[in-house]
Amino acid sequence: MKISDRINKMPISSIMELYPIADKRKSEGITVHHLNIGDPDIKTPREFFDAIKNYDVETIGYAPARGISELLDSQRKYYEKFGIIIENEDLLITNGGSEALIYALLTVADFGDNILTTEPYYANYTPMFVQTGVEVKTFPTRVEDGFHLPDKKTITDAIDEKTKAILISNPSNPTGVVLTKEELFLLTEIALEHNLFIISDEVYREFIYSDEEYFGFGNIKELEQNLIIVDSISKRFSACGVRIGSLMSKNKSVIDGVMSLANARLCVPTIEMIGAAALYNMDLNILKSINEEYRNRRDYIISRLKNIPGVTVYEPEGAFYVMPELPVDDADKFCKWMLKEYSLDDETLMLATGASFYQNEEKGKSQVRIAYIKGIEVLDKSMSILENALQEYNSL
Ligand SMILES: Cc1ncc(COP(=O)(O)O)c(C=O)c1O
Repeated sequence: MKISDRINKMPISSIMELYPIADKRKSEGITVHHLNIGDPDIKTPREFFDAIKNYDVETIGYAPARGISELLDSQRKYYEKFGIIIENEDLLITNGGSEALIYALLTVADFGDNILTTEPYYANYTPMFVQTGVEVKTFPTRVEDGFHLPDKKTITDAIDEKTKAILISNPSNPTGVVLTKEELFLLTEIALEHNLFIISDEVYREFIYSDEEYFGFGNIKELEQNLIIVDSISKRFSACGVRIGSLMSKNKSVIDGVMSLANARLCVPTIEMIGAAALYNMDLNILKSINEEYRNRRDYIISRLKNIPGVTVYEPEGAFYVMPELPVDDADKFCKWMLKEYSLDDETLMLATGASFYQNEEKGKSQVRIAYIKGIEVLDKSMSILENALQEYNSL
C-alpha cells in the first residue's frame, strides 16, 4: 500500500533520532542531561491541579468548539494586562500552540502559497508547512547580530506573489532574540505594503530579560486586521503536557475560518481547559519570579559559554534558548559522539543540533541549540561536560 507523498515529505526530526541513543546510555548507567528540548523543570502551579480536583460533574460532554467561557474570559483579561484589548469572539482555544499554528497556516494560505519566516526558525514549523501544503521562504539572521532582523530589502527580496504571511516567533525559539519596537514596526510596514498577515507566535511572551515593558504586534493598531497571535500555556505555566493553546485575531474572516476547522475537531479537552482557566486567573506576579529564574539561568549559561575556547555566543534576550557556534565543523556529528561515546563522571549531555533549525542545508552546521530549562546545578555540570567534550573531540 502506498503512503501519501505528504507523509513521505515529512522531515525526520534529528532530535528524535537521538532519543534511542540517549536511552541506551541511560541503560548503561550514564546520566543524560536533556538540554535539547524546551520542557521546563519549573513546577506547574498548584492552582491547575486544585481546579481539576474540584471539578465535579457527572458527565463530560463536548465543550464548545471555541473553548469554555471560563478560559476565554480569563485569557481575554490576561491579554488586557499587555494592552491587547479583545472580545471573547476574537479568541479560540486550541490543542496547544501547535494546533493554532496549523490552523493559522491553513486559514491564510492555499497549497503552493508560501510563508515567510526567519532562518533559523523553530524546527517544528517544517512539518507544519508540509502538513498544510504551504511552502516556506526565509530571510537570514546571523549569530553575529544576535539573530536580529536584516535590513528591509533582504526581507522583501524573499517575498513573491505567492507569499501570504510572515511567521515570527517572538521571543524566539531557537535563538532567544526579542524583536525591538523598530523591528516590529519594520515587519508591520512590510506586511501592510505587501498585504500579508503576520502570524505572531508568542508562546514565550513573558520570558524577556530586559527591563523594558512588553511591546508586541498586538500593540500596533494599524496591524489589527493582518494579525494572528498564537499562544500557549505550555511554557508560560510549565504545562507542556496539558496541551492548551490559543489563536487570536481581530480579523473576523480569519476567526470564522479557524472556527470552521475547530468545529470539525469538535473541542479541546474540557478538564485541561478548567485547569488552564485557573492558571490565567492566578496572581500573575508569579510569572515575574519565573522570569527572574530564567534570567539567572541565562546569565549563568552565557558566562560559562563565553569561557569555552572557540565558542561564539551572544546574549539571548528572551525565551530560554541560545544558539552558540561551536569550534567543530559538524555539530550534528559532535552531538551524536558526545551522546554515544563521551561521559564525564558518568554524565553526558543531549543538545539539539543547529542545522535542524535551518532550511538551507549548508547553514547552522557548527551551531547547537541549548535550552536552559534546568536549574543552575544541572547547567553547571552540563557546561563542564560540553567544555571537556569539545576539548577531547577536537584532539581525536
Ligand atoms: C516557538 C514555539 N511555538 C509553538 C510551540 C508549540 O507549543 P505547544 O506546546 O503549545 O504546542 C513551541 C514549543 O516548543 C515553540 O517553541
